[in-house]
Amino acid sequence: MAKQNFPQLGRSVACITILIQFIAFTGFSRSQSHADETPRSSTKAFFIFGDSTVDSGNNNYINTIPENRADYKPYGQNGVFPQPTGRFSDGRVIVDFIAEYAKLPLIPPFLQPNVDYSDGVNFASGGAGVLAETNQGQVIDLQTQLSHFEEVEKSLSEKLGVKRAKELISEAIYFISIGSNDYMGGYLGNPQMQERYNPEQYVWMVIGNLTRTIITLHEKGARKFGFLNLSPLGCLPAIRALKPESNKGGCFEAASALALAHNNALSLVLKKLKDDLEGFMYSNSNFYDWLRDRIDNPTNYGFKDGVNACCGSGPYGGVFTCGGTKTIREFSLCDDVGDYVWWDSFHPTEKIHEQFAKALWNGPPCLVEPYNLDNLFNSNNEKIKLTIADVVDSPKTRREQFHY
Ligand SMILES: *[C@@H]1O[C@H](CO)[C@@H](O)[C@H](O)[C@H]1NC(C)=O
Repeated sequence: MAKQNFPQLGRSVACITILIQFIAFTGFSRSQSHADETPRSSTKAFFIFGDSTVDSGNNNYINTIPENRADYKPYGQNGVFPQPTGRFSDGRVIVDFIAEYAKLPLIPPFLQPNVDYSDGVNFASGGAGVLAETNQGQVIDLQTQLSHFEEVEKSLSEKLGVKRAKELISEAIYFISIGSNDYMGGYLGNPQMQERYNPEQYVWMVIGNLTRTIITLHEKGARKFGFLNLSPLGCLPAIRALKPESNKGGCFEAASALALAHNNALSLVLKKLKDDLEGFMYSNSNFYDWLRDRIDNPTNYGFKDGVNACCGSGPYGGVFTCGGTKTIREFSLCDDVGDYVWWDSFHPTEKIHEQFAKALWNGPPCLVEPYNLDNLFNSNNEKIKLTIADVVDSPKTRREQFHY
């Protein structure tokens, strides 16, 4: 398993130093490069794969259990959308903000009828895993999401012609946020899997399948990828509540360790793919440390509570009752969701989604590397060879921050 104890203070200081350099550098580069700046393109498509972190309503159209649905109140209670949409949040999720920053309209769920694919489409499904075995029969697994992409590819070719469809696919950004369910329900909640595979074998099986998906997308012409890495899973209210006595109210570190191991393996694989796959460009993020910091120090970031769910019941709001559509009908709802990191037992609030979307969009290399999403959306492949990552971040500090 991955090392778990890192000098927290040292890392934060490094990040702050780099942040200052980053601000100085971007200010400098803006004023320098204004004259020869190419017009910003807002026409790149945005394709989304993943689980409930990014599902925008696909599960409304499949036959599944109430736990995998979010199309009822109080989901979406903040009124950004007229009705609950199926997003696992009090409002928007991270990809909605990214679409906004990229000057795209909201990206529709693939299963919604009569969808226009030309700005991209969202294939994600709450509860989904990388592995077909994870929540099998109740979700759209990653392999099936990929086959839905193939349908979109065909449809685009018919509508736009093969040449324009190919262009659209190669210029598009592919955002992937998946894996948590493989480790929670798929492994920790599944004794048979634990008998068959030790944690390390299991992580590499998940990563192996994820890598294959990335390679398949690349074969189809995809070049630019964004990843949300896994959060500290043991700090989700639902997981924290599993063993409240033995953990003394702390996070369930064995679950977080799986997420860390996954994140480290993914980082390694992405570096390798960058060398192996022609034109492959990516943006990977350190969501794990970023969120852990807000969980542990909520008041530093405009929150009051980093532990308890706004909506739910039982210890930490960790019993997944939000909405009253599941076996247990009673649940409680907080007064001011803006105080909370966690919306329900498994999912963060819109405020967290928005804050991290901003970080992904234009964050510094200690959070998102080697490119941020602004780089990927707004540059042509050849034009971003010299990036913030090359300028302000030496390979050594980067390695320390991401603990490869
Ligand atoms: C993908 O996952 C399956 C289990 O669903 C496993 O048998 C297979 O070995 C994995 N493939 C890779 C390339 O890791």
